[in-house]
Amino acid sequence: MRPTIVKDNHALPSNLTILKFGGSVLRDAQAVHSAAHEIYRYIRRGEKVIAVVSAISGETDALDAMARDIGGSQNAPGKASLLRLGEIRAAALLALALERVGVDARAVDPAEIDLRAEGRPDDAGLCGLDHGRLAELLEQHDVLIVPGFSGVLENGQPALLGRGGTDLSAVYLGVALKAKRVRLIKDVDGLYAGDPKSDANPRRFDQINWQDAREICGQSIQGHALEYAQKHNLCLEIAASARRFDTRIAPNASLSHARADTRKLKVALLGFGTVGEGVYAHLVRHSDLFEVSGILVRDAAKERDSAAPAHLISTDAGEVFATRPDIVVEMIGGVDAADAFIQNAFFGGADVVSANKAVMAANFDVLQAAAARAGRALRYSAAVGGGVPMLESLDLAREESGVVAVQGVINGTANFILDRLAENCPFDDAVREAQEKGFAEADPSADLDGDDAAAKLCLMARHGFDTPLRASQISMESLSDLSQDRIDAARDAGKVIRQISEIRRDEKGALSASVSLKTIAADHYLAGAKGEQNRLVIDGKNGQKLALRGKGAGRWPTAEAVMADLLDIHRLRGQFEETVSVRAAEPACA
Ligand code: NAP
Ligand code: HSE
Repeated sequence: MRPTIVKDNHALPSNLTILKFGGSVLRDAQAVHSAAHEIYRYIRRGEKVIAVVSAISGETDALDAMARDIGGSQNAPGKASLLRLGEIRAAALLALALERVGVDARAVDPAEIDLRAEGRPDDAGLCGLDHGRLAELLEQHDVLIVPGFSGVLENGQPALLGRGGTDLSAVYLGVALKAKRVRLIKDVDGLYAGDPKSDANPRRFDQINWQDAREICGQSIQGHALEYAQKHNLCLEIAASARRFDTRIAPNASLSHARADTRKLKVALLGFGTVGEGVYAHLVRHSDLFEVSGILVRDAAKERDSAAPAHLISTDAGEVFATRPDIVVEMIGGVDAADAFIQNAFFGGADVVSANKAVMAANFDVLQAAAARAGRALRYSAAVGGGVPMLESLDLAREESGVVAVQGVINGTANFILDRLAENCPFDDAVREAQEKGFAEADPSADLDGDDAAAKLCLMARHGFDTPLRASQISMESLSDLSQDRIDAARDAGKVIRQISEIRRDEKGALSASVSLKTIAADHYLAGAKGEQNRLVIDGKNGQKLALRGKGAGRWPTAEAVMADLLDIHRLRGQFEETVSVRAAEPACA
């Protein structure tokens, strides 16, 4: 292979993770949702992600058979044009899955970034890339999805990269873009000496060098990809989706660990409404990691979107807690009952994930103390921003330089209603639509009057400013007081009304916070939040502004954040259960 052709020298992000999803993990179309969880894990750390995808399992073989059936030359560009379609389809499906949760993702055809191939159309290598175009796309989007396995020849025709060629696509991009991490997601959590599926006691490599990996892993990583990584001193991670363990392919020593089997965790769901049903669907797809032990509802006879086995559903909290869950997910809303259930969960030794900003804001210190006393985790990412990782971003900004102000649209229902009112929809109809779509709180006056946004600000104050803030300290303006004249005047002036929530720290260090209705220019960043979307601008002490956007309400964005907390807890528990703790010294990598 020739050295990389660099077409442009645009700035590339320093926090780029490349995740490669192979056919062994994209077992069917629904598996793209699991890939979305893995991507979301890095997005909420503030990283940019390029997801390089193989075709859904079996599709390349089916396309290959189709090509043979039709005839023609088997190493011609025509066959490459057909076989690359599997990866393109997988990329489009993953883009849809990310769109559902509100992650800003874009599928990119190899031709668009001039991912240049050289060699035979059925067995080519990669030799060039339009860095400028990629950098531009990475500036515009949080995630790019690149179909692996193919590139574009100098004459513009497609070429395939040989069996396992998606590994090469990921490694090539990792080298060319100086990615912080290149992680190849497989169906096993690393490289093993022996077959982890059949051996009783296989040994997983914690770290292994490229040469040994080539000898040991046989066909599970493409040889050309390993060669290219070694040549460019690129470290690789071999991992399974949602698992804690991995194997690092890097220079130096090769160490092996005994296999650390991670226990399946029992999860009790408190609440089976908009959010609860979404979380349940994800847990069912991850039955290798989680087992739903019970579901608490108010009305067991209620008709629901999804069917959960009747024996799991109960109106008796005692019965649900008696299943001795490892994790309790609280999604009932409100303060008093939720508080009692969360404390009970800690008392019983469970970790807690909550989507409930009302209880977290009202009883923050008490609940944190209860978690600390019990030595258990308390996570509540979904409570603020739906699928937009607002609390995580505030943590990062606080750690980096400190935060001086935040300003945003942080209530999806209010934003949705404001957009509908501007379209002349009657107020009551707009509220009903927001309820039907699952955006509104059980009592929508919390959305309309600003209480929901105020509770979120209280949590933001903890994460961004490390300072307690009570809802009673926040001034609020209600949507119910908004006059038709003001709506009409804004529209006539080409402006929009937004419910804007903000916190500022003054020179003396005191916080002031408000939830108010502001008429802003249509090209204002916050005006760009449409429907249930949320947007946030974080002003750092270092003068930098961090802008976030995505879906702030609804089943799938919220369930994604809950799932991210659940998977974090799963990995956290795996860490403590790891039987051997020897780790190789971190090697120097490219
Ligand atoms: P929801 O659709 O109204 O569902 C609430 C669920 O909790 C229902 O299944 C209900 O049972 C059950 N429930 C309520 N009170 C209960 C009690 N005292 N005992 C037992 N079960 C009880 O609400 P949701 O929209 O899923 O919201 C759940 C939580 O997530 C809230 O804290 C909300 O603020 C938060 N959240 C929601 C969103 C969103 O977009 N919806 C986004 C972020 C955060 P029945 O079904 O039998 O009535
Ligand atoms: N009711 C809330 C909203 C749900 O509309 O923003 C998300 O927290």
